[in-house]
Order: sequence, then structure tokens, then C-alpha cells
Amino acid sequence: MAPHIPTHTLNDGHDIPALGFGTYPLKDDEAVDAVYSALQTGYRLIDSAVNYGNEISVGKGIRKYLEESGTAREDITIQTKLPGRHHDYKAAINSAQESFDKLQLGTIDVLLIHWPNPITNKFRDAWRALVELQKRDVVRTIGVSNFTAEHLDLIIDDTGVTPAINQIELHPNFNQEEMRAAHRERGIQTQSWSPLGKRQAPYSAAPVTAAAEAHGVTPAQVILRWQVQLGNIPMPKSATPSRQAENLDVFGFELTGTEMGAINTLTRPDGRLFDGDPNTHEEM
Ligand SMILES: NC(=O)c1ccc[n+]([C@@H]2O[C@H](COP(=O)([O-])OP(=O)(O)OC[C@H]3O[C@@H](n4cnc5c(N)ncnc54)[C@H](OP(=O)(O)O)[C@@H]3O)[C@@H](O)[C@H]2O)c1
Repeated sequence: MAPHIPTHTLNDGHDIPALGFGTYPLKDDEAVDAVYSALQTGYRLIDSAVNYGNEISVGKGIRKYLEESGTAREDITIQTKLPGRHHDYKAAINSAQESFDKLQLGTIDVLLIHWPNPITNKFRDAWRALVELQKRDVVRTIGVSNFTAEHLDLIIDDTGVTPAINQIELHPNFNQEEMRAAHRERGIQTQSWSPLGKRQAPYSAAPVTAAAEAHGVTPAQVILRWQVQLGNIPMPKSATPSRQAENLDVFGFELTGTEMGAINTLTRPDGRLFDGDPNTHEEM
């Protein structure tokens, strides 16, 4: 039986699963198969993006699962992201319509602005477009990704609409304490990308191995449980069905305060995976 996944209630009143499935860099049949298998395992939140080039395949995997399982469409949350080259107001409206057409799932449950690209400096136009897309019911929930507190305040001041979600780089080597506090103050849900730490995942770090041994779980499960207990929504990616199941099975044990604190000591100011500082990184 698929595990029960708790939910968070977003600032727009919609519920979202407390853990999701990442799909980058899956493409074509690999993406269809991975999404289908993730849904069979019990995932109910799927993360895509225009720039992953996989919206058609992700939509196909979801529709295949819906048809075969009889699961209701509203039980699955599909999330995609607007690329930097589509930040002009009209381009953003058209881009969302293209995502809608590619996914073929009806209303897009969640649309995020992928990166702020503050040098290009058009993210405020893009946010106005997302507010309009929500009014038109093309998109249900609107949010952002890789925004700093300053970027958040600019778009909130412009429109009076606070993003429901900010998806940011967050793993034990970079725990984003300040951004998590900024989100709490503004009522924004934190999502974590590269939640395990990808190729730098600290599977053999002492605080992780000690907790894994104490709870009889794997290091990856410890890291994802740490994410969940911080209140973040982690979005682990795995093309491997056994790992997909392992990564979802993190709701049956609890880390102690001491274990949480020990994992938090792994964070470093230079702990980003690459030079992905949202103030300087531009992604079109
Ligand atoms: N908003 C953004 O700018 C942004 C940026 C980056 C990523 N993302 C999103 O975040 C998602 C996740 O990030 P990510 O893929 O970079 O990093 P991640 O989920 O931390 O790590 C994925 C890697 O870990 C491996 N893995 C997964 N589960 C494992 C386990 N239990 N034990 C050992 N290894 C395991 C996977 O290999 P296998 O697949 O071979 O199992 C894959 O190589 C992406 O897919 C994407 O949806 C968003």
C-alpha cells in the first residue's frame, strides 16, 4: 500500500504534499517511466520545468497513471516553472499556455518563476503575469524559485500577492536558515531543490550515519526526514524505483532535537553545489 503523505496548507488555502518528486534531468521515455513509477510508489507532487524539456513526458507519465489507477486528477499536484527568457509579461502568459498544452492535465496546479535573473531584471513583470494567470484559472497556485528576501518583497509590494512557495537550494551543506526565517515571516512555503545534496550528499557524515544507525534507516532517509522536520518540502529525484520508495518512506520515524542540531552543523557558507547565487546567477 502506498504510504500516507502529510500535507502543508499554502497561503492560498490549497494543500500540497510534504514531499515531492524531482524530474531533472529526466527526458522522453525515461521521464515517462520514472514519473509513472513514482506515482505508483505513492508520490503525489511532481516537479517539472519548461527548461527541463520534459513537460510532455511528465504529463504523459501522469496521464498513464491516472488512466490505469483510476486516481482522481485533483489528487496529484503538477508543478512547473517559467524560464528566464519568458519574463516579459506577454511572453510569460504565452509560456504558461504552452506548458498547459504540453502537460495536457488541465489547470496547472503550481507555476513558479524558475530564477529571478535580477540582472535581466524582468521578474516583476513575470510575477504580474502569474497573478493574471491565476485569475484566468490557467494556474491554481503561483510561486517562485531561487528568490531572495529582497526579490520577494519587490513582487509582494508590486501586486499585494505573496508567492505561496519559494523553491530554493537547500541540503545539509547549505541549510538556508535565513531564507527559511524570511519565508516564515512572509507565510511562504519552503521547497528544497537538490534536497539530498546531489553529488555532494553527505551520506557518510557522522551526524547522518549516527542517526541512520539509531533509527534503522538509510542516510538518504535521515536527510529527507531532516528536511521534513524543518518544515521544508524536499523534491528528491531518482530514476531508480527502489530509491524512489526509500525516499518517500520518511514519515514513520522522528529525529531527536540533538540529531537535528547535529545535522545542522554540516551547513557551510560556501556549501552551494555550484555558483547558484540568485543575485548573480542568470538562467534563461
Ligand atoms: N529550482 C531550481 O532551480 C532547481 C535546481 C535543481 C534541481 N531542481 C529540482 O530538484 C530536484 C532534485 O534535485 P537534484 O536532482 O539536483 O538532487 P537530489 O534529489 O538531491 O539528488 C539526486 C541524485 O541523487 C541520487 N539519489 C536519489 N535518491 C538516492 C538515494 N536514496 N540514495 C542514493 N542516491 C540517491 C539520484 O540518482 P538516481 O536517479 O540514479 O537514483 C541522483 O543522482 C530536481 O530533479 C529538480 O526537479 C530545481
